[in-house]
Amino acid sequence: MQDQPNYDSILNELHKKYDDINQDTETHLEGLLHSKPITYWDYIHTDALLSLQIQRTTLPDEMVFIGYHQINELIFKMILWEIQQVAENEDLNTVFFENKLMRVSRYFDMLSTSFNIMREGMDVAQYNKFRHTLTPASGFQSAQYRLIEFASTELINLIDYRFRKTIDRNTPFEHALEHLYWQAAGKDYNTGEKSTLLINFEKRYKEEFITFMKVYNTKNLWSRFKELPEADQKNEDLVKAMRHYDYTVNVSWVMAHYNAAKHYILGEDGDGEATGGSDWQKYMHPKYQKRIFFPELWSPEELDNWGKDV
Ligand code: HEM
Repeated sequence: MQDQPNYDSILNELHKKYDDINQDTETHLEGLLHSKPITYWDYIHTDALLSLQIQRTTLPDEMVFIGYHQINELIFKMILWEIQQVAENEDLNTVFFENKLMRVSRYFDMLSTSFNIMREGMDVAQYNKFRHTLTPASGFQSAQYRLIEFASTELINLIDYRFRKTIDRNTPFEHALEHLYWQAAGKDYNTGEKSTLLINFEKRYKEEFITFMKVYNTKNLWSRFKELPEADQKNEDLVKAMRHYDYTVNVSWVMAHYNAAKHYILGEDGDGEATGGSDWQKYMHPKYQKRIFFPELWSPEELDNWGKDV
């Protein structure tokens, strides 16, 4: 009997856990007798995950397009997961903040360097066939990408550069949304008319976006940074991490994306038109868009030259 493990303490803890929620410990222990041992495929839900890549055409390279977009959405989810922990931390310090920012940056670094999977990984002629079945959809309609932006910075930094001076920081959320930089991809600014790309996107996500914008208005990464004590805001490692994140998302990823778009849309078989129908060349380049999450962390010269040296 000496070698017999002693389960008393774990049983006591279990008993306390179930007692606290008015549950019978014995019933739960009995349930364990019949529960299935876990397997990798059940835990990861491999079958469900691998059943989601559904082509609209018979062209094999469409699978690369779908698969890579889905990988991006999964990584976007992981990024939002990390940002949320900074947003909700009640005892935020520089080490935790920097650690989370570097996690998020590593994901974005990975997305930037892997963009070649898109740029080199599909046959241009095939792309220019299957893309016609995707019109008028576009990666522009990635809601998680927009959530990452809302969660990263103050709304004023996402307002179209042309309207920034005329928009009050306390403007209603709905008004701010109408003037976000990305409206330019789906709006004719002479007539104000919205494209189908934008109409569909807003019909599906507008309410969700407004709620999220409200929640993150005071919890976005920049607001949380500004809440830190002055000395912490000067912490070199943290500032470096903030700048790295800003540059990776708003220059490296944007350029990797722009170069992939150029390769297909302006390639031999391309017709120069984006599936979403935007004036994409001008819209997508960081030197025009000038989307910067943390402008106060860059010098006037760096701000002036944003996206020009790539
Ligand atoms: C061959 C690959 C790709 C091409 C040719 C391409 C092309 C474009 C174009 C032309 C736009 C501008 C809007 C429009 O008129 O459609 C756009 C926007 C966008 N795409 Fe892609 N894209 C590609 C891959 C991806 C991937 C893999 C993602 C990841 C989810 C993505 C996410 C986005 C996002 C988030 C926007 C909005 C960006 C912004 O507003 O600045 N795209 N894309």
